[in-house]
Amino acid sequence: MHPFQFYLKTEVVFGADTHAQVASLVKKHGGSRVLVVYGGGSCVRSGLLQTVTDGLTAEGLTFDTFGGAQPNPRLAHAREGVKKALAFGADFILAVGGGSSIDTAKAIAVGAAAPDTDIWDFWTRKAEPKKVLPVGVVLTLPAAGSETSDSAVLTDEATMTKRGLSTDLNRPAFAVLDPKLAATLPKYQVACGVTDILMHTLDRYFNPVPDNEISDAMAEALLRVVLENGRKVYADPADLHAMSEIMWCGSLSHNGLTGLGGKKDFAVHQLGHALSARYDVAHGASLAAVWGSWAKAVADADGYARFAGFGRKVWGIAEADDKKAALLAIEKQVAYFKSLDMPVCLADFGLGDMDTEELAELCSYGKTRNIGTFRVLDHDAVCAIYRAAKN
Ligand code: NZQ
Ligand code: ZN
Repeated sequence: MHPFQFYLKTEVVFGADTHAQVASLVKKHGGSRVLVVYGGGSCVRSGLLQTVTDGLTAEGLTFDTFGGAQPNPRLAHAREGVKKALAFGADFILAVGGGSSIDTAKAIAVGAAAPDTDIWDFWTRKAEPKKVLPVGVVLTLPAAGSETSDSAVLTDEATMTKRGLSTDLNRPAFAVLDPKLAATLPKYQVACGVTDILMHTLDRYFNPVPDNEISDAMAEALLRVVLENGRKVYADPADLHAMSEIMWCGSLSHNGLTGLGGKKDFAVHQLGHALSARYDVAHGASLAAVWGSWAKAVADADGYARFAGFGRKVWGIAEADDKKAALLAIEKQVAYFKSLDMPVCLADFGLGDMDTEELAELCSYGKTRNIGTFRVLDHDAVCAIYRAAKN
């Protein structure tokens, strides 16, 4: 193992019906004036929001609500949330929903603790957060891993920029993972979620540091479990056993564990973020659409060794030749995304004729940064991957 630093403060409460414990967890973690942040209304329709707020009232806590977080959550909406949290005097932010609600809650927690700084300054690295309000999470969609991750992702519509802020301050105080809550998910969101969970580990696993055996073995095990149970939850989101596996894997995949000691790559996420920022496509789908082209562009970075290992240990490929095993593994992974009806090229989104140069500009922040570690990709390499991903 190579050196690493790992800090995970989040109390995880996992299992069917655990959402009944939310109010007592808020109290335990010091909340008394709670801003409940949610999305477009799925938790209103399911009755979950009512159950949660009834629980807060029963615990003697004061609350206000802030709905409207949309997929690829917007900076302007988060700024509104900061205003609301300050006016209400919130001392705790509770997210009810998927990654977009959680990231909005995290942004509000950062902003409300620094009322004199515009929150985007933290996302553009002009300022560094020193403290945040505590955040609790009731997860309804296993996907982004935000419930235990150190990251929060916002989109600035004005500049078509999607950016993440990573700091241990972003890790929630607690996360309630109740797999029953995901049974109402539309199939498309299930598929996006399974893809994102796979990608959080793939983007760590494909890195240039070869000898972190336990991290790699954990990554391979997680990938196998997600591939197997991903098929099952796609067929039936109410399959409680399979959804339980997927939900816990969603947290494990993005809390850092599967990449410790390595130099995480995350180029596929950067390629996907530019797509989502420009075309507002769902995060998981944006990743599936470019993964195959990215993989083919980088697989020979170490003479195909790592992709061949992925093929043998995750996909059970018996081929002895590294190049053949690697290319077969890529084929199988892309076919898996297809089997979940995910886009595997940009034409699948109806974006086959988009301007790859413009997209690469967005991805490379106007040619000011390279992305990736397994193979470092400059603007031209990024452009070539988008071009290859067209059809
Ligand atoms: O908004 P509501 O009405 O709740 O509906 C949502 C939304 O339409 C719906 N949904 C959620 N739970 C449901 C449900 N519908 C029925 N039943 C339920 N139980 O699903 C739709 C998508 O929700 P969203 O929160 O946008 O999805 P996801 O969890 O995939 O989050 C995506 C966002 O997270 C970011 C992505 O970039 C994207 O902005 N990410 C955040 C990360 C982090 N903070 O660590 C890491 C990820 O790589 C990712 O970038
Ligand atoms: Zn992701």
